[in-house]
Amino acid sequence: MHIQNSSIIITGGASGMGAATARLLSKTGAKVAILDTQLEAAQKIASAIQGCAIYCDVTQAESVEQAIEKAASQFGPARICINCAGIVHSRRMVNKQGVMPLEEFRHVIEVNLIGTFNVMRIAVQAMQQLSIPDDSEERGVIINTASIAAFEGQIGQTAYSASKGGMISLTLPAARELAPFNIRVMAIAPGIVDTPMFEKISLEAKKALIDAVPFPKRLAHPDEYAMLVKQIIENTMLNGTTIRLDGACRLG
Ligand SMILES: NC(=O)c1ccc[n+]([C@@H]2O[C@H](COP(=O)([O-])OP(=O)(O)OC[C@H]3O[C@@H](n4cnc5c(N)ncnc54)[C@H](O)[C@@H]3O)[C@@H](O)[C@H]2O)c1
Repeated sequence: MHIQNSSIIITGGASGMGAATARLLSKTGAKVAILDTQLEAAQKIASAIQGCAIYCDVTQAESVEQAIEKAASQFGPARICINCAGIVHSRRMVNKQGVMPLEEFRHVIEVNLIGTFNVMRIAVQAMQQLSIPDDSEERGVIINTASIAAFEGQIGQTAYSASKGGMISLTLPAARELAPFNIRVMAIAPGIVDTPMFEKISLEAKKALIDAVPFPKRLAHPDEYAMLVKQIIENTMLNGTTIRLDGACRLG
């Protein structure tokens, strides 16, 4: 899929990996709509890349419908949808404060898994109506952001790991379902990435996480995630699978 002149939506594009992706893809000639709950931060990025910023809460059907419609009216219906919106969570099922409130678990699943699916289903509805460009064999691409915690979740990550595992599990059935429409679905499972989300982790946990990366022994840069997104968009054979981006890190 060509990036030049393509209309792209990026959820969670106001920060971290989503913001890095917005910058790289707009440099490559894309028209980028940033959908995020942090409107002011989204506006700052959008104004630097001639993109647009739209308020969107991925957990709400109506909010996503309206945001995708607004993005389409600005730049045309999106052929490329990148889901970066997400939250991190860490808590044992039972700790000194007591049992984990069910609402906490539900909220993580709601944002990370249901939110991603919510955006996918509405983006796909519009994508399916698009024609296939003459110089292309495909109609669209969806890229979701999971995590290596889906494979090797640590203590305290039941909610986060379950939410990311769900995202990985839906990749193949969604790719199969959308294949007749020439739409691809891919997921990226990043390791530990230097973003504001990572800042929320304690210094001790940070050190332990960096130690777990064999090579290169450092956090991933958000730009390295953006580079992989670009490759997935451009390489039509990539479909229905999850790519780890982790410097061989396997969490203990
Ligand atoms: N940073 C890491 O180490 C790491 C590792 C693996 C996976 N991930 C995943 O990558 C994705 C991007 O993470 P990041 O590190 O760039 O985080 P980040 O906190 O920098 O960015 C996440 C963005 O999502 C937005 N968001 C949160 N809830 C939302 C909602 N309901 N609706 C719309 N937007 C919402 C936030 O406002 C924020 O702009 C997340 O899904 C995260 O789980 C991060």
